[in-house]
Amino acid sequence: LILVLDFGAQYNQLIARRVREANVYCEVVPCTTSIDKIKAMNPKGIIFTGGQASVLDADAPFCHEGVFDLGIPILGICYGMQLMSVMLGGGVKRAQQREYGKIDIKFEEASSLFRGIEPDTTCWMSHTYHVDTLPEGFKSAAYSGNCPIAAMEDAARNFYGVQFHPEVEHTPKGRDVLKNFLFNICGCSGDWKMSSFAKESIQSIKEKIGDKKVLCALSGGVDSSVAAVMIHKAVGKQLTCIFVDHGLLRKHEGDQVEEVFRKQFDINLIRVNAQDRFLSRLEGVSDPETKRKIIGEEFIRVFEDEAKKIGTVDFLVQGTIYPDVIESGAGNAAVIKSHHNVGGLPDHVDFKEIIEPLRNLFKDEVRRVGEELEIPHELVWRQPFPGPGLAIRIIGDVTREKLEILQDSDHIFREEIAACGMERQINQYFTVLTGMRSVGVMGDERTYDYTLALRAVTTTDFMTADWARIPYDTLEKVSNRIVNEVKHINRIVYDITSKPPATIEWE
Ligand code: XMP
Repeated sequence: LILVLDFGAQYNQLIARRVREANVYCEVVPCTTSIDKIKAMNPKGIIFTGGQASVLDADAPFCHEGVFDLGIPILGICYGMQLMSVMLGGGVKRAQQREYGKIDIKFEEASSLFRGIEPDTTCWMSHTYHVDTLPEGFKSAAYSGNCPIAAMEDAARNFYGVQFHPEVEHTPKGRDVLKNFLFNICGCSGDWKMSSFAKESIQSIKEKIGDKKVLCALSGGVDSSVAAVMIHKAVGKQLTCIFVDHGLLRKHEGDQVEEVFRKQFDINLIRVNAQDRFLSRLEGVSDPETKRKIIGEEFIRVFEDEAKKIGTVDFLVQGTIYPDVIESGAGNAAVIKSHHNVGGLPDHVDFKEIIEPLRNLFKDEVRRVGEELEIPHELVWRQPFPGPGLAIRIIGDVTREKLEILQDSDHIFREEIAACGMERQINQYFTVLTGMRSVGVMGDERTYDYTLALRAVTTTDFMTADWARIPYDTLEKVSNRIVNEVKHINRIVYDITSKPPATIEWE
């Protein structure tokens, strides 16, 4: 076990992810964790994360000084390095010039932290303060133009500090630096796997829940599905899942969810077919934000109505994953679109505690757990799907007829993307029923029908995206099939805007 002591930087979990990628188990705990607890966890090494404070602030976060007496290696990153310096008697001062971005750094080749790494390298830096006086026993292990001590080490005690961020992609050799720490310095064996995560989490969920009752809102998306299956493996029939089918899902999707959870896993599943209820609330509404709000609220009301029938439960499961934690914690970003499933907790459901088994995982890690749990491939690799569903892919008001047009066209688009083998290369693809109608000709007849847009993007984080270069042959086939097989579509356009300036969804 490697312990990551969290000093409050935004992307701390990224460090944990890098450690897990190296097949070493790690846990992130607050920097205020008691020394007895840390001892009891018996880590092979500790990593101090970065943080937003300055070590020189009066209320700067510190950890217990006893960590330096445990006789195990410690690596301090950014704030973590500065803290190590101050706690061990060194000094930190404000730099003359703030360093931000990709900086050229020279590593000391003899350092075990940089063993086997090209000494002239680029690293990501973001700091205003830096270590100016080394604590006793330390020597400098790297420098940059503006930072004479960009890394430090006390090889005898195995204490290391780096001012740069080895965990981010912008530090190309960062993974190697972390691996040196884990394998050469801490002596980790690197045989931990995602399957162990699943097994250990299921065991601890089992202990936590005991013989109590658990409730889960299942959406059919990857996160809530993986969370539900984990809880089911832990406590079986003590778990009840409520699947609110708002009728705004893709073609056959509701039935697939039911099939997997009821038949394959034998989970207690309540499916609520609420399409009529949603459609009637959405009648005549065309403003995108109003649609989102209605769907979000109605979703919670339907869930509450069902939950009331079950009565008091002890735990409510949430499929929160780490990026949700970061995004909702950021707080100061402008609201571009309200995401109804972030922070949307029911007010009238009686539960004592929330349980979030995926809170520390990134999406691809969640998928790996899903595969370990033998959740069907289509579900584990499902592309993201917005909570408000197809309602935000119909520009203007939502009707049953438009929903059917959208479901059928979307189904064809997905079939053809699968047929040309691009399923895994394109990260999200769907059709949009634009509110526009135009003139066309079918046989000898004039038509006046809807224009459908195809949207397909490549992206890693969904914050920025590029439009996918789908081969013309595939586009042609999709266009022909949709116009021929789906009534009321007489024109197809392909959306070639990136995000920004457009967003991925049209509403
Ligand atoms: P945009 O359209 O903002 O979408 O570029 C970025 C990603 O978020 C998805 N999305 C949502 N997901 N609830 C969700 O769970 C929502 O309300 C929602 N709105 C957009 C979108 O599909 C894309 O993957």
